[in-house]
Amino acid sequence: MLSISDLPEINFQSKEYLAKPLKTLAKLSEVIKVGRSKRGVEILDYNLCRDSILDRRFGTGHPKLMKVLGLEEGPALNYKKNSISFHDRGETRRRLRIPITKLMGPKGSERFRDDIKHVVRETFSEIPTNEEVDLIKVLCDKIPSRVYCYWINAPLEDADFVSKTSHIVQQVHTRDPKTSMAVSKGFEELLDYVDKRIFIRRKNLGEDLLSDLIRATDAGALTDDELRNWIVKMAEANTDNSSHQIAIAIIELASRPKIWKLLGGNADLVPQALREVMRYHPRSLSTSRETLEDVELEGFFIPKGEAIFPNIGAAHWNPNYFPNPENFDIYRPEKPAHLNFGGGIFSCIGRFAVTIEIEEVITFMTREFPNFKIKKSRFSHSPMFTSVDDLVGSLIE
Ligand code: HEM
Repeated sequence: MLSISDLPEINFQSKEYLAKPLKTLAKLSEVIKVGRSKRGVEILDYNLCRDSILDRRFGTGHPKLMKVLGLEEGPALNYKKNSISFHDRGETRRRLRIPITKLMGPKGSERFRDDIKHVVRETFSEIPTNEEVDLIKVLCDKIPSRVYCYWINAPLEDADFVSKTSHIVQQVHTRDPKTSMAVSKGFEELLDYVDKRIFIRRKNLGEDLLSDLIRATDAGALTDDELRNWIVKMAEANTDNSSHQIAIAIIELASRPKIWKLLGGNADLVPQALREVMRYHPRSLSTSRETLEDVELEGFFIPKGEAIFPNIGAAHWNPNYFPNPENFDIYRPEKPAHLNFGGGIFSCIGRFAVTIEIEEVITFMTREFPNFKIKKSRFSHSPMFTSVDDLVGSLIE
């Protein structure tokens, strides 16, 4: 049987990938289903990618990630080890996810829509119109971090701290040991912050996500540490990813003025337009797994303990599943579904809530600012993520 060293090599530092990552992945996915990169095994074929996200022989990639990063023993690593990310399939992972998936499922998340609408309206009302503004700062970071403040009943002034620390701790995915000190400090600050918020809310429960989770804890569904870890996890995973995906949606839609205008008059088309944004330009270019046993994949032997990356970017641009993937088409069929939020027992907890956030931003923006113009925008692509490093625009009424 062939081994990993026989797999074709993918170089994420190549000029081609850095200039046109998705096109490069699309070309590769036409000729190979599986490849290897410096970080591990890359799965490029859509069906194989989706199946590997769900595959029971693959577990969480986070413990390996922490080793690569060199996170030292201390409160940050201790949190990581006990959070959902370190748990493989099994009773603990299932038990930990139950209370939160109930509260943040499609129905549970709909309950946030009014607060989200309010956050969107308020945030836009603070942005000066008819002048160039840094939309990452005044809009994309603000929305998810303010929504988080609603979830935990914190003052909205805390949103800047929430977004700043989320950007810092998400650097774990750079796999760069140089970031480990900042990441540790970021987690320590978040842990202290969340402990304080839980202490305050416990004395006076209300109608918010944190109160509901405290009630679930008091009923025995979670321990106090597990509750704390969830609230930290939601800050960790929230603003950074959501902010970048909001910015990606604004850029992809506003740079197509016909579609922007169409959405402004037809809010019912926004959900399908966003599905296409997340297919065409996903924030998640991959997710990670680790083999729990020796595995045979497409004729290649992959030993136990190997890092596996279902390459979502390649899957989304695979022409065998998405004809003419470079065409941005909001009328594409719903299936095959995009994989931006992973899947199965590891799937993104916030996927319904963040989808509502982006829907409300785009609905508001296309309706109120039909002539919105982007002045400057810049993407960057790591093997893991699409990021928006710059987004300057002018809200022209
Ligand atoms: C557009 C924004 C977001 C994107 C693209 C995104 C993407 C992802 C992906 C790809 C995964 C891994 C899934 C897998 O490996 O199968 C994940 C996990 C997760 N996400 Fe998100 N996410 C986003 C926003 C959020 C938000 C707003 C929250 C907060 C509530 C959140 C909470 C989580 C959690 C807790 C996990 C870990 C789930 C587990 O291990 O069981 N995410 N996300």
